[in-house]
Amino acid sequence: MTNTVDKKLDDKTIVKDYFNSTGFDRWRRIYGDGDVNKVQKDIRTGHQQTIDTVVKWLKEDNNLGEISICDAGCGVGSLSIPLAQSGATIYGSDISEKMVSEAQIRAKETLEDDSKITFGVKDLEELTGKYHTVICLDVLIHYPQDEAAKMISHLASLTESRLIISFAPKTLCLTILKKIGELFPGPSKTTRAYQHKEADIIAILENNGFSIQRNDMTSTRFYYSRILEAIKN
Ligand SMILES: C[S@@+](CC[C@H](N)C(=O)[O-])C[C@H]1O[C@@H](n2cnc3c(N)ncnc32)[C@H](O)[C@@H]1O
Repeated sequence: MTNTVDKKLDDKTIVKDYFNSTGFDRWRRIYGDGDVNKVQKDIRTGHQQTIDTVVKWLKEDNNLGEISICDAGCGVGSLSIPLAQSGATIYGSDISEKMVSEAQIRAKETLEDDSKITFGVKDLEELTGKYHTVICLDVLIHYPQDEAAKMISHLASLTESRLIISFAPKTLCLTILKKIGELFPGPSKTTRAYQHKEADIIAILENNGFSIQRNDMTSTRFYYSRILEAIKN
């Protein structure tokens, strides 16, 4: 029988292997600007809206040049790179070495000065240190509720001031859509996608000593992401 620890390792191993193989190819294209199919294009548009919302929030505070940011599960650097471009000191990390290598390449190509951005290959639960702001976008979708709760608590322990997370919200309508999607698995189907109840995520953040300051929702046809900014009490 699989115990909880083994199951957790399994979930992470599956996600890591996926983002080092077929998932890497798929998401590198979605998070790029080349040709993609209609569904992928819709996901690209939605994801970019999520990135834009977070960059806008951070710029509004007018202190990007002074703060340290950890982008946990940074993927190919879609958020880390524009934040570094705006002057923040960024540490981007990801469980997949392929995603991190691509992020490093994109940072070198995009940034005139890449001295304020560093990347590392790490499971987010192994991250250490303290950061003014910790951000984790579209990662929790890969994990069930109990694991997501532990991940949020760990990220909270690294946070000095602000934690920003996004997740696929669990609503009746989206649950039905997901079920329909599962009836028609196509070649581009990926790992399991877990939705999370917003009230549960807020409760986890509050139990870790945070209060919600701003929130937003990105919804396109195939991409749904609730974004929460939580401030340390
Ligand atoms: C859907 S992508 C989102 C990437 C990025 N946050 C963005 O919004 O552009 C999910 C990313 O989370 C990473 N990931 C999944 N589980 C992780 C974990 N336990 N620790 C660190 N990164 C993880 C994956 O390798 C992948 O790059």
